[in-house]
Amino acid sequence: MNGNALWQFGWKDDLAIGDATIDAQHRAFFTEAEQIRVALMSDEPKARILEYCASFLAALRVHFHDEEQLMGRVGFPGLRDHQLEHSRLLAQTEETYHELEQATCLIDCLLGTRALLERLAEHIAHDDVNIRPYTGESDVRACDTAGRR
Ligand SMILES: [Fe+2]
Ligand SMILES: [Fe+2]
Repeated sequence: MNGNALWQFGWKDDLAIGDATIDAQHRAFFTEAEQIRVALMSDEPKARILEYCASFLAALRVHFHDEEQLMGRVGFPGLRDHQLEHSRLLAQTEETYHELEQATCLIDCLLGTRALLERLAEHIAHDDVNIRPYTGESDVRACDTAGRR
């Protein structure tokens, strides 16, 4: 499945990593991404569409922070590289938001915005899922430790 199909089809349970907060944020991402895509093709006022995008950007910042905290808690070995990728994705999202702010016609930003949303969806599907074995292992380790006490 390519990135385009990923975000068009939305959330699937096999994307779950086993943490309720992060999974809820990932699920919401697909809903919000679709909302932005549809809004860009609609005749909604620009100010309203920018509100969706600002809210999306704020949620992304919170999500990346929460996900990195989780990775730290479970001892995910790829944390440093993952943080760098989050920084790149956040910079691209901020850049796209500024392009939308400055655009006279939002539909001109549709391709760039779609490319961004696809890249974010691919990050969930190909990078974030690598945390899953560690969230599971951390539960087992916690039980083992508790059992030995
Ligand atoms: Fe994520
Ligand atoms: Fe991530």
